Amino acid sequence: MKKNIDEYSLLNGDKNTFENVFSTEDPWKLSGTQEQLRYKIVMKYIRKNFLKSVLRVLELGCAEGNFTEYLIREEYKVTAVDISEKAIERAKKKNLPNAEFICEEMIKYVTNNDISRFDVVLLMEVIYYLSKEKKVELLEQLHEKMNPEAKLLVSAPVKNKHEMFLSEQRLLKKLGYKGFGRYKDYDGIILSSKGISGKLLEIIPTYRLKKLYLCLHKYIIPFRINQKLFLFRKD
Ligand SMILES: C[S@@+](CC[C@H](N)C(=O)[O-])C[C@H]1O[C@@H](n2cnc3c(N)ncnc32)[C@H](O)[C@@H]1O
Repeated sequence: MKKNIDEYSLLNGDKNTFENVFSTEDPWKLSGTQEQLRYKIVMKYIRKNFLKSVLRVLELGCAEGNFTEYLIREEYKVTAVDISEKAIERAKKKNLPNAEFICEEMIKYVTNNDISRFDVVLLMEVIYYLSKEKKVELLEQLHEKMNPEAKLLVSAPVKNKHEMFLSEQRLLKKLGYKGFGRYKDYDGIILSSKGISGKLLEIIPTYRLKKLYLCLHKYIIPFRINQKLFLFRKD
């Protein structure tokens, strides 16, 4: 029987399971309206927070290169890493200029490569697949090897009871222990828009959230309600 994707939590870089997930094309529906809107918001956030016109980006857990396409449209130079060969094969077929796709477990990649040339490291919707120990290992490696000027951008659902996700407090603490300081935040939350004609994915200031949530919660995928972006610098 096919597993629900939520059951793949805490996989710790188990390649076979992710290959299995990618036996279906686009398993997380990343080309759908909802995720594309998320990508637009993240792009806006990157443009606002990074002043250089050409960024060198390391994208960890790039899947089939869906967000990579957005980065390439901005003419950024991207190295994109994913554990799944199927995903990387599909990403390569997109023939994106200035994108290098690499199939490797992300902790191994960060440990074994010089990542000091990157201006930004993206950890989008991927950190929660690692166990506590592996999260620590990844963050330590990133802290040690990232350029002091570079920023780490993390996107994840927070304040959630699902075992897979961290509370916002714990996420910030974990990164803090590993030497990262919070750089800036939208002080807002990305709401997901399923069932609301693809319109509502936007940054909602926290003070408005409660009211909106009350109006709309029945349409929203619960674990996406608190999806949030964080930008960290090395302390
Ligand atoms: C939910 S998708 C997120 C894709 C994209 N970053 C986004 O935000 O839409 C998670 C991706 O991370 C990859 N992944 C999970 N654990 C990984 C690991 N330890 N090393 C490399 N890639 C990993 C999976 O294969 C999958 O493609």
